[in-house]
Amino acid sequence: MVSGASSGIGEALALRLAREGARVALVARRENELDRVAAAIVAEGGSAEVVPADLADADAAIDAARVAEDRLGGVDLLVNNAGYGGHCAFSDWDFEDMDRMMRVNYLASVALTRTLLPGMLARGRGWLVFVASVAGRIPTPLEAPYAASKAALLALAESISMEVDARGIHVLKVCPGVIETPFFSEHDWARMPAVARRGARPVEGLVDHIVRALARGRHEITHPAAIAFAYRVKAMAPGFMRRQVMRTTLG
Ligand SMILES: NC(=O)c1ccc[n+]([C@@H]2O[C@H](COP(=O)([O-])OP(=O)(O)OC[C@H]3O[C@@H](n4cnc5c(N)ncnc54)[C@H](OP(=O)(O)O)[C@@H]3O)[C@@H](O)[C@H]2O)c1
Repeated sequence: MVSGASSGIGEALALRLAREGARVALVARRENELDRVAAAIVAEGGSAEVVPADLADADAAIDAARVAEDRLGGVDLLVNNAGYGGHCAFSDWDFEDMDRMMRVNYLASVALTRTLLPGMLARGRGWLVFVASVAGRIPTPLEAPYAASKAALLALAESISMEVDARGIHVLKVCPGVIETPFFSEHDWARMPAVARRGARPVEGLVDHIVRALARGRHEITHPAAIAFAYRVKAMAPGFMRRQVMRTTLG
């Protein structure tokens, strides 16, 4: 089951998992886009279920997980990927949107995971993938609610991971850097610091990295991997890192 499968990372990962032989449940709001992705999977000889849902609503997320479980006869791999971002001074950010961002980016993953994990535990096997962000590890200015939602997701995933590891459930945290998807509008690309634009990567490389990480039993990946070096710099020289982040994002 892949949330946010109508576009970008979720779409590419759903297509790849189907190629690897998985029967895939596709979740997002836009049913026509999910139908398009499902048709592409079927055209390649795969199998896909379309489960439209607005994951801002926790009850809708729980229902979607149950529908996917019923139609597939159990879900072995859940990819918590649906999410959206924003770019705005915290003092100007609309409260309704901050509330919604937390529900889509964090609480939907709680609801989907809480609904599907018992079945995985009963079967003694399962995979949980959480698509967070480098922003969850290194928060930047003008992204406060987004960075907070991704930091929460990483903490949730790490805690669950240690609880279920010995029971056959593997948890993978994914921290993408800048990936070329519809996540970013033309306006976003224009205001992005040059260093971030230069580091943008195609979605296929991230999908390869995720599939390799699952096969190898990795617990966390950052893509591109070189960015993870910045986590060490932040841990060893937090003041230096803070100045670097402020310089590149605020000018
Ligand atoms: N692209 C990057 O550089 C980047 C970097 C770091 C992290 N990420 C994370 O990667 C994930 C996927 O992003 P992407 O780059 O693939 O962006 P994207 O192309 O915009 O895809 C976002 C997906 O989330 C779904 N979604 C958004 N709100 C939803 C809602 N209320 N209910 C159900 N589904 C919803 C969208 O589907 P509908 O609109 O059809 O609902 C879409 O399928 C996100 O969590 C994002 O934060 C991306």
